[in-house]
Parts: sequence; structure tokens; C-alpha cells
Amino acid sequence: MEDEIKSIVQEAKAAIAQSDAVSLSVTAAKFIGRKARLTQILRSIKEFSAPERQKAGSLANRARGEIEAALLQRKQELATSAQRSTMKRDTTLPGITPEIGHLSPVTIVTNQLIGALTELGFEIAHGPEAELEAYNFDYLNIMPNHPARDEWDTFWLRQGKDNKTSVLLRTHTSPVQIRYMLAHKPPLRIIAPGRTFRYEAEDATHASVFSQMEGLMVDKGISVAHLKAVIVHFVDRVLGEGNQVRFRPSFFPFTEPSFEVDVRFRDKWLELMGCGMVHPQVLRNVGIDPEEYSGFAFGVGIERLALLKYGINDVRLFLGGDMRFVKQF
Ligand code: PHE
Repeated sequence: MEDEIKSIVQEAKAAIAQSDAVSLSVTAAKFIGRKARLTQILRSIKEFSAPERQKAGSLANRARGEIEAALLQRKQELATSAQRSTMKRDTTLPGITPEIGHLSPVTIVTNQLIGALTELGFEIAHGPEAELEAYNFDYLNIMPNHPARDEWDTFWLRQGKDNKTSVLLRTHTSPVQIRYMLAHKPPLRIIAPGRTFRYEAEDATHASVFSQMEGLMVDKGISVAHLKAVIVHFVDRVLGEGNQVRFRPSFFPFTEPSFEVDVRFRDKWLELMGCGMVHPQVLRNVGIDPEEYSGFAFGVGIERLALLKYGINDVRLFLGGDMRFVKQF
């Protein structure tokens, strides 16, 4: 009987060590419950002869005590590990305040532009940042030897066999005009915000990576009056009403006539965007009859607008990732 009790204790300890929170009570019943072998032994002790009774009694009671202690210890172990795993998921504990992010000034201005123009019925269009040479230049009436190609020093990604296989980082958002006009018939009213790239010697007003928003409207009877109305509307929206805006004659191969739009800022005129009436040749290039339709286009520099809006003096700050700058918005 002594051997039997010893082996019960061993078996019980092994079973307890392998039990989890759910099976622990089953293990407990098996070894110290009403129908357990040890309980039966304890019950039968009173039938033993006096000297045997004492010995067997203390043996069996000690065994029961050991098993109970093992059960208790296991129960505590399971409780602490359960607590630890729920703590990992407790997001309500007070302590370090989490850093909450916010939109960059470029995104804020982009969203304001989108808001001001979608309410006039403009839809958002997108084009790839890695663009075909043909869409970035040729379809926009910028011929191979045109000086504009030098002016916009370009990041070439692949020199293909022709302008439909050569790929570059787009130097402006104007190729989105081409893609959209090739795929849709007028009337058209789109805006195309996005990143643009030029190989620049960077300084306070020039960055190699910057953002533009293109606008294009093509319909019957569109004139410079429509162009001016739309531009004044969104400049007012972003910079607040009452700014002086001026249209200055300019040149782009893809618009005729062309203008530069300036805004009066701190007693100086600041250049904000290029724009103009879509050149008849550009319309012809995409299969739109310039006798029937006319349109306007503009390309506004978003960082430029953000500079004005927030009084920032260096465009390089936008991509610099300096938290002292970014946290001010
Ligand atoms: N694409 C021109 C630029 O990047 C801006 C522009 C767009 C001018 C549309 C006229 C019409 O400078």
C-alpha cells in the first residue's frame, strides 16, 4: 500500500504539471475527488488494525496534502501567465501618451484644392509617376529639340527605342491631361494632384521632388473667362479671400495663350502656377477637333501654395522629415 500511495502522488504531480486552467479541476477530481483511489484508501483506514491505522493514515494524509499543494501552485502559475497575456493587449493602461500623427501641410492644401474644385464638378484623375516620354513631352507639343526639355532637366529611368518606350519620372502633372483625353470624349473636367520630379540644384525655392495639381476643362465655348473664374475661386479658397491675383502673359508649348498666375504676398508678387488655353495642336494630338471644342489647363505648385498659406520660407522643409517643422501644423 505504501508503494501504491507513492505512485499515486507521482502520477498526480505529473498530471497537474500538464494541466491547463480548464483541465486542472478534472485532474483534481481524479486524484483527490470523492471517487479517487486516495480517497478510498483514506476511507478504508478506519478498518485497519490500530498500529497499521496510524502509519497508513499519516502516509495517506501526507500524500493528499502534497497533491493539494501541487494543485494550488499550478493554479497560481496559470493565473499569473493569463494576467500577463491580457496585459499585453490592455490599451487602456495609463502611462506614455501615444503620439498622434496628422496630415502634412502639402496634404492639407491638396485636400483644400480638391474640395474647391470638386464642388465645381471637376473629377479626380491619376497618372503614373514613371511616365512615357511621349505623354510627358511629345503629345504636349514639346518637340524633341524644344528648349523646355532642357529647362526641365529630367530623371530618365529607361532609354527605349522611341518615345513610347522611353520612361522618365514625370516633370509635371500635364501628361495626365493627355492620358485622360485619349481615353475620354469631351466635355471633360478633371484635376490631377500628384508628385513630380525635376533634376534640380536644390535651394529654398527648388526641390527635386514636389507636388502639382493639374486642372483641365474641355467643352464647347470655353474661354479665358472660365479659366480666370476657376483659378480665382480656388486661390481664394486656399489663401482666403481678398488676395490680389494677377495673370501675366507667358509661354508653354501646350497652351495658347499662356499665363503665369501671381499672388500678392507680403508686398511682393509670387508666382503660383502656369496656365492657359489648351493648344489646338494638343487637342488634335488626342483626337479632339479644336474647331468644335476648346479648353483651359493649369498646373499649380502645391508646395508653393503651402509656402504662401503658412508663411514658410524653404521648400526643402516639406520633405526633410524634421519633427520640429512637421509638428507645427
Ligand atoms: N506643366 C506646367 C509646369 O509644370 C504648368 C502648366 C500646366 C502650364 C497646364 C499650362 C497649363 O510648369
